[in-house]
Amino acid sequence: MEFRCLTASLADPGALLEAWQGDTLAVGLFSDPDHPARAQVESLVGAGLSELLERRRFKGKPGESVSLQRVEARPGTVILVGLGEPAGFDGNALRTATASIARAAAAAGSRSLALALPVEGLEPGAATAAMAEAVRLSLYADHRFRSEPDPQSVPELVTLLGLPEGSEAALRSIDGLCAGVELARQLVAAPPNVATPAALADAAASIAADYGLELKVLERSDCEALGMGAYLAVAQGSDLPPKFIHLTYRPAGETRRRVALVGKGLTFDSGGYNLKVAGSQIEMMKYDMGGSAAVLGAMRAIAQIRPEGVEVHAIVASCENMISGGAMHPGAILTASNGKTIEINNTDAEGRLTLADALVYASKLEPDAIVDLATLTGACVIALGEEIAGLWSCSDGLAEALLAAGRAGGESYWRMPLRSSYKEGLKSAFADLKNTGPRPGGSITAALFLQDFVPKDLPWAHLDIAGTVWSDKGRGLDPAGATGFGVRTLVNWISAGSAA
Ligand code: BES
Ligand code: MN
Ligand code: ZN
Repeated sequence: MEFRCLTASLADPGALLEAWQGDTLAVGLFSDPDHPARAQVESLVGAGLSELLERRRFKGKPGESVSLQRVEARPGTVILVGLGEPAGFDGNALRTATASIARAAAAAGSRSLALALPVEGLEPGAATAAMAEAVRLSLYADHRFRSEPDPQSVPELVTLLGLPEGSEAALRSIDGLCAGVELARQLVAAPPNVATPAALADAAASIAADYGLELKVLERSDCEALGMGAYLAVAQGSDLPPKFIHLTYRPAGETRRRVALVGKGLTFDSGGYNLKVAGSQIEMMKYDMGGSAAVLGAMRAIAQIRPEGVEVHAIVASCENMISGGAMHPGAILTASNGKTIEINNTDAEGRLTLADALVYASKLEPDAIVDLATLTGACVIALGEEIAGLWSCSDGLAEALLAAGRAGGESYWRMPLRSSYKEGLKSAFADLKNTGPRPGGSITAALFLQDFVPKDLPWAHLDIAGTVWSDKGRGLDPAGATGFGVRTLVNWISAGSAA
């Protein structure tokens, strides 16, 4: 799929049809029937449009769309999408409208699609990127696990209309960014018998080989030597060997800041001896490596985009949480690589154990900031639902930078409190702390647990993506299934250049 920008717009339909020769034109219409865009479309598709829209009960509400097929006329297909009220039309509305256009165009078999959407109120580069991302990401389809893939046709050329000269520059990073999101989606959607810890290490190795990144994979014995007792206790119930992945991007030229991305990489979470019960979505726990998928997807994107001045470390302590005679006991006491002892009062709170050793490892690299992503708690899903991820940070600057990067990429976060009095809930009678606090505020105590493994003065943020990693029905530019959530935030944050 290729993208380009044109200054031509609906305001001059004659010039537009001269500059653009494609088969499908998509136009956004506000709900106000007297809005000037309606008259412009009418002059292009012919009088009678208003009656036709009335007959089709088109009100111009967000999510509505009508496709017109025309014989012996150019363009042969016209797609009209509703945009709602002009006042509510922002970057996210632009993404959603673009995604519904893309789906309608694919359904119509379009080869060459042009989008005429009202981008005047938005920053042209941001609008260009938002539309291109939305077309590509909403048309993503994954047929890897079907014996007979059902091929979908997607437009080869996508033209964005009405954009000022120079907007094309914003297209430069689109391919890398979308390829990163797609990699994350593929890793998350792959079943637990395919996406194993070794498969995650292989994915990291492919990125390293394709783009010249540095890769270190620590085996069980290497992790033992580093004293990673928390991570290895989770891994010990599985027949599959753990893989501790450390992938590094170094910029050409001077390095001005260094960041570490840490991702939870549980390729399956059975709960362990605190086995997940019916209704706990055990059959979906292949997506418990969504944090690591986001981190690897972001590295795939960064490797291609090659941002200047920033060194990026991706760290994933990957393993499975399983049951066997060798699995960790409820009640076990472990020692993490920073010397802290942990009493296991619930084997299903395993993600934080793997992250503890990964955060200690990341801290030893002395980065300017650490961001971890994890499908950490069901409590976060209860608190924020499926569209918003939780964000905890000890640094206001880092929190603001991540919120802004998320907004720019159409990913939503809500900052949550690191209330220190709740650490009471993690007090153990036997060890330095226990791994599970009380049910109320469960996503907060999980974040507080992680905070114990990062030095106080190191800017750190924790993103709980348990709700956003997967969408059963699909939403906006996410088709049903794995969303690849987090990649766009990370890439935008790293490219934007603020360390904290
Ligand atoms: N991977 C789960 C969290 C999860 C639950 C993600 C549902 C997505 C959907 C995590 O390892 C877990 O099991 N957390 C427990 C923690 C509890 C034992 C303190 C939970 O949320 O129930
Ligand atoms: Mn668990
Ligand atoms: Zn888990």
